[in-house]
Amino acid sequence: MEEIIKTLPQHTCNWLKGKITMYKYQDFWTIKHLLEGGILAQQSFKAEPNDVFLCSAPKTGTTWLKSLAFAIVTREKFDESTTPLLTKFVHECVPFLEKSQVEEHENNRKNLSLPLIATHIPYASLPESVISSNCKIVYIYRNIKDVIVSHYHFLREGLKLPMEDAPFEEAFEEFCQGVSGYGPYWDHVLGYWKASLERPDKILLLKYEDLKSEPKSNVKRLADFIGCPFSVDEEKAGVVDNIIRFCGFENMSNLEVNKTGKRNGSVTENRIYFRKAKDGDWKNYFTNEMKEKIDKLTDEKFNGTGLLLK
Ligand code: A3P
Repeated sequence: MEEIIKTLPQHTCNWLKGKITMYKYQDFWTIKHLLEGGILAQQSFKAEPNDVFLCSAPKTGTTWLKSLAFAIVTREKFDESTTPLLTKFVHECVPFLEKSQVEEHENNRKNLSLPLIATHIPYASLPESVISSNCKIVYIYRNIKDVIVSHYHFLREGLKLPMEDAPFEEAFEEFCQGVSGYGPYWDHVLGYWKASLERPDKILLLKYEDLKSEPKSNVKRLADFIGCPFSVDEEKAGVVDNIIRFCGFENMSNLEVNKTGKRNGSVTENRIYFRKAKDGDWKNYFTNEMKEKIDKLTDEKFNGTGLLLK
């Protein structure tokens, strides 16, 4: 592993006072321990045909998608007063592919017979068995400008750097150059988008902003796709509405585990995964020049796709 990593292009993030180094592997950038987990997963993870992969680039709504999918597939086992989401951080409820070698994640999958596994790995670099087993994939993506702002605060807060010590302009430039968690972000989205055109029955694309503006139809689409559709009786009884409310930002960000907890063996506080969840927060950070630059780059990369990322 060390030998592979030593040969890779590296980038040290100056705006984070050099405290984070990213490595470029198979056309995407990530940090060392996630890369090690990703390579191990590529080498030994064996997907089962019924596994459902929850895929995303960081800061695009991963936490939300995971809680919704978890609540949907476990709704017969648990109700709102017993769901593990009340006491366990979402990212510990749904196993993470890059940590699939970690016992706790593997046990989670076995103990709950949970078909869900999350990953940030780009489509082209997924372990071969995910594709050959024909697993279903749900992919969430989000307006690039809000992703940039969210990414900035997440890394900064994770390192406890105040804003005055972490220049946003530099973080923005780095993101534009493609250096972001599992970036370039455009390529991440394009990879899953292209695959969804080729295998529409196996890959569902959800947009963060659509999930927000039309939660009911999108949560029902998600449940249908995962293979756990809501019955008419469930709908009448308000099960869909309850899941939407429970997994909503207001409720999740106020649960004690998400306000004050930390992940097992981690110094990162759970609360940094719940910031504002506002569409258009980028307007508070971008200059006109930044807006023009990112729009131009996005137009160039997404020309002809019909995908809206801005
Ligand atoms: P902001 O930083 O814009 O607030 P990820 O889960 O992929 O790391 O993405 C984190 C982003 O999703 C953060 O965005 C966070 O606030 C937002 N988020 C977290 N939980 C959410 C929820 N239940 N509903 C909507 N957005 C949520």
